[in-house]
Amino acid sequence: MLAKGYDVHGIIRRSSVDYRERIAHLEGRPNFHLHYADMSDSMSLVKLVGKVQPTEIYNLAAQSHVQVSFDAPEFTADVDAVGVLRILEAVRTNHLEKTCKIYQASTSELYGKVEEVPQSETTPFHPYSPYAVAKLYGYWIIKEYREAYNMFCCSGILFNHESERRGETFVTRKITLAAARIAQGKQEKLYLGNLSSLRDWGYAKDYVECMWLILQQDKPEDFVIATGVQHSVREFAYHAFKAAGIELKFEGEDIDEKGICVNGPANLVGKTLVEVSEDFYRPTDVVNLLGDPTKAKQTLGWNPQKTSFDQLVSIMVKHDMEKVAAEHVASVMRTNLAEYLEKGVVK
Ligand code: GDD
Repeated sequence: MLAKGYDVHGIIRRSSVDYRERIAHLEGRPNFHLHYADMSDSMSLVKLVGKVQPTEIYNLAAQSHVQVSFDAPEFTADVDAVGVLRILEAVRTNHLEKTCKIYQASTSELYGKVEEVPQSETTPFHPYSPYAVAKLYGYWIIKEYREAYNMFCCSGILFNHESERRGETFVTRKITLAAARIAQGKQEKLYLGNLSSLRDWGYAKDYVECMWLILQQDKPEDFVIATGVQHSVREFAYHAFKAAGIELKFEGEDIDEKGICVNGPANLVGKTLVEVSEDFYRPTDVVNLLGDPTKAKQTLGWNPQKTSFDQLVSIMVKHDMEKVAAEHVASVMRTNLAEYLEKGVVK
């Protein structure tokens, strides 16, 4: 958005620790502004929308971890469901409904216990987690305000979109970081949940371009954004480890399945590097997501294959190999400095 010349305003929540690593490179730019507000605080949203008078709102705010939504269902509903309503009402309260377009981050999790494969804009929803149920409300309230008040508000039904900035507890990033750490001797093993779960993984950078395209159309519509290609968690792990120089062979079934190193650094060959743990199983899990991006291709002119699965894996692994190596250098320097300080070599 900054590259396109927009003034960008983002909301942040107060925290006593710094959690802005992923936007640190943007801070200080003249067109980039951050404001304290919260999706659970209507007044903060109403005041901010009134002050900024936005022409486009991208609502990506969410408690977005599916497994966590089983532990914090009420918070998830407040932010992911009612939060969307609060934004719509903030726009209406400030009389901006004719000038402000709204993009809502809807999700392939809406298809949940899938009723058809692949999933398109016409596939029935069957949400299968507290997160997905909350997101279903968000999807419908956007549609309702579009029809009731003639507002330009749309959903992008995005399938999993990954990148080097992905949170470390989502499965792709958990795997690429672990592969990098194991390859560099910083971790022994990776524990995962359901290895057979199937996902349609795309590159987040390509997907955000689509979010913008959705708001540039003449009429507000919902779109499925996906690659149309499906892989299992097991396959993702295989390719990520391979990109880190380790070849895995998977043996066994369900909870007893293991990923064993069959090729790679001599000290790892023959070792079990991936195991399954019940801790990462969900009470209900969505296991067969595959999107049909035909409408986005035809209407938005979007290319779902811009970044292939192999390229995505290698971008993420390369980034994490460098991150782990840099952390190692930083930790050696810290240790040396502490030693020198202790010995009085430096003061
Ligand atoms: N997180 C995680 N950790 N997932 C695991 C693990 C593990 O150790 N092992 C297996 N999985 C399986 C999960 O059971 C799930 O079926 C799949 O890997 C993907 O899990 P996540 O990466 O956590 O993503 P998600 O598909 O549940 O949700 C993400 O994508 C949605 C879009 O479809 C999130 O970003 C959602 O916010 C988003 O809506």
